[in-house]
Amino acid sequence: MITLAVSSQKGGVGKTTLAINLAHAYARMGRKTLLVDSDPQGSVGLSLTRQSRHLSGFFDLLGNPAIKASQIIVPTRLKTFSLVAAGQGSAYEMSSSAAGVTLYRVRSFLAEIASLGYDVCIVDCAAGLFGVTADVLSASDGVIVPQQAEPLGVRSVPKMLEALTRMRAVNSRLHILGVVLTMVQKNLQESRESADALRGLLPSEMVMKTEIPRDDLFVRASAKGLPVGVMEEGFSVQSVFEELRSELDARMSYLGTNK
Ligand SMILES: Nc1ncnc2c1ncn2[C@@H]1O[C@H](COP(=O)(O)OP(=O)(O)OP(=O)(O)O)[C@@H](O)[C@H]1O
Ligand SMILES: [Mg+2]
Repeated sequence: MITLAVSSQKGGVGKTTLAINLAHAYARMGRKTLLVDSDPQGSVGLSLTRQSRHLSGFFDLLGNPAIKASQIIVPTRLKTFSLVAAGQGSAYEMSSSAAGVTLYRVRSFLAEIASLGYDVCIVDCAAGLFGVTADVLSASDGVIVPQQAEPLGVRSVPKMLEALTRMRAVNSRLHILGVVLTMVQKNLQESRESADALRGLLPSEMVMKTEIPRDDLFVRASAKGLPVGVMEEGFSVQSVFEELRSELDARMSYLGTNK
């Protein structure tokens, strides 16, 4: 199994949108895929699961060793696609866990998922690189960094990559798969310039070729916590996630990451 974290220091850059749609792209091609919401404000799968706000989820498992991964996995209509909601997390917040306990639990969770036959686990992280996100990154095989194509955002990216590189000291398995430009508006000069600026700022292998366009369909889909591909009109934009998936697969096989 491969575990991919979707993480960025900045909020609102399209992490959740990317995580949902990329996971859906993996599931659609037949890989058994689990999408995990590790953002306490989680919104993954609001309507895929109907009542995900009331479900036990990832934070409950982190706070209570008696909970098994199999108890919090929620199936969807697509057989290869399941979710783990963020959950309530009150037990987690109250347990002043000793250092290393959360990381241990994240690792056990992933080991259990792997033993259940999952091929891909995609974890949507909260903004920032601290707390549970740091533990998720310490247990992941790869990290994808979405970045909005807008002038102010771009400058923070090299710092984020430096911080991730430092994390490789804890987890040498962590491949920094690259930055994905999101909400790109090809016909807007500022957006194109920001995209070019980022590509100019970073080594070319650090920025994925695939760019996610700005499209209102994503707003409408994510308001419901859905992948665009399950919306009737979503067919036209889902192909960009097929592209991203195949670019990631090529990159991972090049880097020698296990499937
Ligand atoms: N490609 C896109 N085109 C248009 N709107 C988008 C796109 N990607 C994301 N959005 C919208 O931008 C907003 C933020 O996106 P999203 O929730 O995915 O970001 P995030 O990085 O997960 O945010 P947070 O840091 O709060 O978790 C949402 O309203 C979403 O619908
Ligand atoms: Mg989010």
